Parts: sequence; C-alpha cells; structure tokens
Amino acid sequence: SLKLAIIGGGSSYTPELVEGVLKRLDILPVTEMHFVDIEAGKEKLEIIEGLTRRMVEKAGANIEIKASLDRRAAIANADFVMTQFRVGGLQARANDERIPIKYDVIGQETTGPGGFAKALRTIPVILDICKDIEELAPNAWMLNFTNPAGLVTEAIQKYTQVKSIGLCNVPVSMQMMIAEMMACPPEKLSLECIGLNHLVWAHRAWVDGQDVTAEVLKKVGDGQNFSMNNIFEEPWDPDFLNALGAIPCPYHRYFYQVDAMLAEEKESARDGGTRAEQVMKTEAELFELYRDEELAEKPKQLEMRGGAYYSDASLNLVDAIYNDRKTIHVINVANNGTISSLPDEAVIECSAVVGSWGVRPLAVGKLSPAITGLIHQVKAYEQLAIEAAVEGSYNKAFMALSSNPLVPDITRAKAILDDILRTNHDYLPNF
Ligand code: NAD
Ligand code: G6P
Ligand code: MN
Repeated sequence: SLKLAIIGGGSSYTPELVEGVLKRLDILPVTEMHFVDIEAGKEKLEIIEGLTRRMVEKAGANIEIKASLDRRAAIANADFVMTQFRVGGLQARANDERIPIKYDVIGQETTGPGGFAKALRTIPVILDICKDIEELAPNAWMLNFTNPAGLVTEAIQKYTQVKSIGLCNVPVSMQMMIAEMMACPPEKLSLECIGLNHLVWAHRAWVDGQDVTAEVLKKVGDGQNFSMNNIFEEPWDPDFLNALGAIPCPYHRYFYQVDAMLAEEKESARDGGTRAEQVMKTEAELFELYRDEELAEKPKQLEMRGGAYYSDASLNLVDAIYNDRKTIHVINVANNGTISSLPDEAVIECSAVVGSWGVRPLAVGKLSPAITGLIHQVKAYEQLAIEAAVEGSYNKAFMALSSNPLVPDITRAKAILDDILRTNHDYLPNF
C-alpha cells in the first residue's frame, strides 16, 4: 500500500498528478491520497476533491481520497509527501514579477529578485512542514516541487532530517523537445544534465551512442521550438551556442539575454499582464471546467500552464524508489563531489541513479570555465538567501541580492530588497 500526501492540493496542476497515479496503478499500489490546503485555498481544494473522485471512479480504482486543512493528518504515515504550494498565492507572484522591473531588473517567479522573494516566503513554511514529517512520517520521502525548487530543497537538507528530493519539469521537457528535434523516440536520447534548478545545461547529448550535441545546438540556433509556455521564446544567437558548447535550458535566457527578456517583460506588464496575471485568468477558466460534474479527466486546457510533464517527473521518481528501479532521473540533490568545485552540501540539479536506498548523482567533476562562473555566483546567492530566510537577516538578504547576477548594482539591490520586505511583510515572520 502507498499513501501520498499532497501539500497545496488546491493547485490547478493537481488533476495531472491524479492522472499520473491512475496511469500507473499496475506498478504503484496507491491506496490513499490526502490533499491538504489552507483556508484561502479551501474552495479550490473542494473542486479538486470532486474532480479527483470522479477521475478515480471512472478508472475503477480503489483509492481513498481525502481533502482537508489538516496537514498533520495528511502527513501522518505518508510514504511520499509532495509539496506544491505557493505562499501568498498568485498575487504574491505578481508582486515578485512587478517589483524588480520597476528598477530595470528581470522580474521572474523563480530567478532574480522574484525568486528570492518567493524563497523568503516559502522557507519558513517548508521547514515547519518538515517538523511534522520528522515527527509523523520519519521514513517518508519528500518530493519538493515548490519553487525555487533547488534553493528550497537545499534549505530542507541543511536544516531538517527529512529525506528530500527537489524536482522540476524542465529537464524532462528538454528531453522531449530535443528528442522531437532529432526525430528519435525520447528513450533513445541520453542527456548529461548538470547545473542548478532553472540553470541546468545538457552538457552533452547522445543518440544511439553518438554524440549529437553540436547538431542539437545547430537546431536550437536555427530556431526550432525550445522553450516552455511560461518563457518568452527569444531566439538564441547561433554563434553564442556554438561558443558555449552545451545546451542551455529555456531559463538561461534570463541570464544570457537580459536586455531582450527585460524588454519583453515590460511590454507584457504594460499590455497583457505579467505571467502571474495571465495565469490568474487561465486558473479561473480551469476551475470553471473542473467544477463540471460531467468532467472526469484532466482537461486539455491545463497545457496552457508551464508545468508540462510535472506528474511524470514526480511519479517516475516514486516508481524508482518504491520499485527499486535504479533508473536515471534529473533531480535536485546534495552535490557530494558531483561537481568538484562546489561544496558537498550545495544542492545541484543533475542526472542521478534512483533506487529504494535513495539517490546517487553521476559524477561530472570539473566544469568548463564557460559554466563555472555562473553556477558559482548563483549558488553563492542561493546560500545567502537561505541563511537570510532562516535567520531573518537583513545583511544576508542584502548580500544575497547583491550577489545575484541579475542585479547589477547595490543601490538597486537595496531598493528592491526594501520594496520586497515591505510588500511581503505579512508572509515574513522572521523579518
Ligand atoms: P497555486 O497558487 O495554485 O498554489 C497551490 C496551492 O497552495 C493553493 O491552493 C494555495 O492555497 C496553497 N497554499 C498556499 N500556502 C499553503 C500552505 N502554507 N500550506 C498548504 N497549501 C498552501 O500555485 P501553482 O501555480 O499551482 O503552483 C504551486 C507550486 O508549484 C508553486 O510553488 C510553483 O512554483 C510550483 N511549481 C513548480 C514546478 C517545478 O518545476 N518545480 C512546476 C509547476 C509548479
Ligand atoms: C515551468 C517551471 C516551473 C514553473 C512553471 C511556471 O514548468 O519548471 O518551475 O513553476 O513553469 O508555469 P506557469 O504556468 O505557472 O507560469
Ligand atoms: Mn521548474
């Protein structure tokens, strides 16, 4: 038997997770799913509960469905705790996106000052959740989707005893998009992925044992589809890709093409709204559909969101652990020597073998100078941001933002920090 606890169950993504569970009943004997949310998400949670019951019934599955605001009951004796919550909701995300652009800095949910603000709000809550897991389900695995997923996972690993893995759908999406470009089935393509969450490179790509990295880079440079629904598809400079020699992820545009991405963000903020503001509309439409008593499946419209394949990423991991598959997954894990120049306890995103005993990252060793600079700078920012969030330290918060490669100036770093602290006051108990 398997019990899953889903924290942030009211997420509009949840039907995809349910579909993923129902697809795998022959290999994963899920007997209970307990969705938890908070008062503010109660209505969404109830709609998700109803749709889930209809999906489970249609599949003829025997799974006990619970939905409540009782986090401790959900966590007690869970085998897997999946976290997919958003402190402050989409309104807080809209603030994260809008504050930085006032200062001519990238305003994004997970990178730059926006991701920093989200981390400050999220870390106290996730550490509190971990206390419940330590007490009520000490053997459970926590699969953390909550962004910024790498940084949040590092906080969990540094400050708690919980067994945790950070997850993102970007690596799976890269696998699918590159396979499509190369016109080969996804399972024939091997990627060596290394970096940080939302800063991951496919160092090398092979099809049937042949190194196809240069060919993939050429196709990406030629403008073949290589982005996510939530990221503006600014074309890549073919000369840059050639010089870099590794396949960047869609989020790298925020680091390598700051001017174009900032211009695009400002335009959206003025016209159609920031990504959060667009997602608010999509979410309202999705819940309108989810309410329909006739609906008993994940509707197609969910594909408008950026989280494609998120349930495959998490349930394939559950499968690898539960069924001791010893398969390779791209996940967020403690470095432990994988990248020789980073500290052991730094959480990185990389290819790793996963079995019932846990995870073992595949060593990469020394990185090329083209990549080390950015990874080290972002990791230093992440380390400072975690300490700032835990200690409520203004100095560390200031140094975190000043160290972030997307913030070019300490005067602006300070102004953005003060704006973030003011705007998020209600969600920052440590400050
Ligand atoms: P959302 O705004 O719908 O939030 C999901 C739910 O979390 C809401 O129903 C909300 O009420 C609830 N919530 C807020 N605070 C909570 C708390 N303290 N305890 C329990 N529930 C709480 O957000 P969403 O767009 O569905 O995204 C959810 C999360 O998943 C975000 O953090 C997002 O960044 C992340 N995400 C990550 C990936 C990835 O690649 N790692 C992919 C998709 C989404
Ligand atoms: C991608 C990222 C996620 C992020 C999502 C945003 O899938 O990997 O980490 O949360 O996009 O999508 P949204 O539809 O919320 O803008
Ligand atoms: Mn992600």
